[in-house]
Amino acid sequence: MNSGSPGAGEHTGAVDDSLDVRGITVHFGGLVALDDVSLSAAARQVTGIIGPNGAGKTTLLNVLCGFVRPQAGTIAFGGRQLSRMRPHRLARLGIARTLQGIGLFSGLTVVENVMVGATSRSRAGFWSGLLGLPRSDHDERRLRDDAMRALELVGVGEHAEAMPDTLAHGLRKRVALARALVARPRLLLLDEPASGLSDSELADLGDLMTSLAEQCTVVVIEHRMDLMMSVCQQIFVLDFGKVIAAGTPEQIQADPAVTAAYLGSDVVTSDGTEQDAAAADGASGNAARAAGQHEEASQ
Ligand SMILES: Nc1ncnc2c1ncn2[C@@H]1O[C@H](COP(=O)(O)OP(=O)(O)OP(=O)(O)O)[C@@H](O)[C@H]1O
Ligand SMILES: [Mg+2]
Repeated sequence: MNSGSPGAGEHTGAVDDSLDVRGITVHFGGLVALDDVSLSAAARQVTGIIGPNGAGKTTLLNVLCGFVRPQAGTIAFGGRQLSRMRPHRLARLGIARTLQGIGLFSGLTVVENVMVGATSRSRAGFWSGLLGLPRSDHDERRLRDDAMRALELVGVGEHAEAMPDTLAHGLRKRVALARALVARPRLLLLDEPASGLSDSELADLGDLMTSLAEQCTVVVIEHRMDLMMSVCQQIFVLDFGKVIAAGTPEQIQADPAVTAAYLGSDVVTSDGTEQDAAAADGASGNAARAAGQHEEASQ
């Protein structure tokens, strides 16, 4: 991958691109998806969010990018309060995300898919370009150039004119990442970027995330612990919508609450035998959830 060329962050002069989340609560009907969640992500670092299936991770990302409005809580980015903002305004502030599934448009080429992600920076806009409105020629060229740069940054420039469905899973994941990067985000939110990747693709992704964090603040949700342990400076653990632990990867690995909730561990049961924590804790549903911790995102 050509991780040295520009892609994310024309915003390197920004003073403080840190994220501060306080007391976020989200209910879906009677279900409490997030319960008084507070966390922070330091500027130009990779912050991880982990937790069992259904813990509320994607919901938190949806709140951060304005898709879901919380019942309570505040979000500040770069010292600015973001609560009550609409997704398009957040995009203009430099917040970009990838989806848990790949989410590419199958009727558009790879480069056109990435151009869609750049429209918040275009004057005429991609859609008016499609409609042939004035000033669109120049804007479309610029969009295409930006999209090509983002594709090259993630190492898939040669596939620009392909249709997404013809590409292997790992390449499509990179295209989805390029679509988030083309907006040159100050805050990049990644939902399971590693799902379905091979070990060597995982290592490339880790290197890319580390280099992206030199230019923007990165928040990543991921079940692949090997990746999280190697790229994150800070990790927050969600379980049943609550933050149950926070710390460095080493602290998280050593935290018994995390082990019990998510990673699965051997515990001594009342009859003195050793048993998997997930199996011992079947009443809370952890058995099924721990077993599913490497489950891939559905596409
Ligand atoms: N739009 C919605 N309407 C109703 N319930 C929802 C909605 N979105 C999420 N939920 C529920 O909220 C809870 C948290 O879901 P979420 O998708 O945030 O979990 P997650 O931690 O991302 O899980 P996974 O690791 O499986 O992706 C789950 O019980 C889910 O079913
Ligand atoms: Mg999710």
